[in-house]
Amino acid sequence: MKTRIESVHGRRVWDSRGRPTIEVEVRTAGGIGRVIAPAGASTGSAEAVDRRDGGTAFGGYDVRGALASVDGEIAELLTGRDAADQAAVDAALIAADGTPNRSRLGGNAIVATSMAVAHAAAAAQRVSLWRHLAQERAALLPLPEIQIFGGGAHAGRRVDVQDFMVIAVGAGDYAQALDWTAEVYRAAGRLMADAGLLQGVADEGGWWPAFATNEQALDVLMRAIEAAGLRPGDEMAISLDIAATDFGRAGRYRLAREGREIGSDELAHLLLGWLRRYPIVAIEDPLAEDDADAWARFTAAAGSKVEVVGDDFICTSAARIAQAAASGTCNTALLKPNQAGTLTETKAALDAARAAGWESIVSARSGETEDVTIVHLAVGWGVKQLKVGSFARSERMAKWNEGLRIAEALGQGGGRLASRASFPWGR
Ligand code: PGA
Ligand code: ZN
Repeated sequence: MKTRIESVHGRRVWDSRGRPTIEVEVRTAGGIGRVIAPAGASTGSAEAVDRRDGGTAFGGYDVRGALASVDGEIAELLTGRDAADQAAVDAALIAADGTPNRSRLGGNAIVATSMAVAHAAAAAQRVSLWRHLAQERAALLPLPEIQIFGGGAHAGRRVDVQDFMVIAVGAGDYAQALDWTAEVYRAAGRLMADAGLLQGVADEGGWWPAFATNEQALDVLMRAIEAAGLRPGDEMAISLDIAATDFGRAGRYRLAREGREIGSDELAHLLLGWLRRYPIVAIEDPLAEDDADAWARFTAAAGSKVEVVGDDFICTSAARIAQAAASGTCNTALLKPNQAGTLTETKAALDAARAAGWESIVSARSGETEDVTIVHLAVGWGVKQLKVGSFARSERMAKWNEGLRIAEALGQGGGRLASRASFPWGR
């Protein structure tokens, strides 16, 4: 059997924040799969957790323990199994770990192994992972959601909002969406420089948000879209990740920039005002993960044209999506494989989102590497949107560039995006 797993090996490598992380290599007679685990900084409490060594070395972020699980228990568990049977592999990993949050073997060890197994199965068929997942289905490229300013936990809380992003809603294809975004990113940098505000970049490559208020960032973003020669809203829209779990708890939200604390409804009111004043088509984690009732009120008020995206609130969990759909708390799922734990659970979350009639967005983490697996997942599963941070730094660009390669491999018209009318904001 070409897909029989012959070996599983872990390797300690480094991520975009200069922290240790795990690369897992899975070998079969038919080929090799290799994946590096990413790492979040603004995490939800229900996500799978990375196993880190603690102590003083590398700020406690070392991964020797998780590596030992890969080379020991996980290698023993998977050797001899069929890499093509992803569900069985993932079920075995989950059972062997035995904890609800993967803390024993390590979420980092498990997610990298799970995805490396998928790559190995694809390699044995001599196809790329996206093709292996798509099978005979016609593949589309995902519409990019790209950060221009990075704030929140990714920029020392310089502004409260974590991601000020753009979505090229009017782009004709994937390559054009990148072209337009590149112009907006450049224009935003130029506007920052002209105003004496250019201070480098934040964690995911977006410009450092040296602004007096959150609204000033929105205003500069609008000007950058116009300076790039694009029509705001019609050609280039705005999306935000508020990441409110990072600054809110028990219905109280601390706006660091303004030095005041507000309640759930006040925060919702502030954000609904932005939805009216700016061409915002998606808003992620507008409220904290423990504020479900306020979420439901916000989502109802935002209306059906806005994607209200659950990240920390949903943690890529099929069960949480089903629950949120029943109570109307959001309408779009952010999918991060390392929140779910394995590839099978990530796919289950996507299926739950589809069953609920939601949109979904495949997403990277703030701690990333050259690994491009998530691009293959988006294309292979037919997910219409992709979020990987900004338009700078190679851990981000590697992913945007992989999309260009896949578009080329698809041949004539290969960069095709889902139709505008298929999105809530395009209806
Ligand atoms: P992360 O968050 O820092 O946990 O990766 C990114 C996000 O909130 O989307
Ligand atoms: Zn988020």
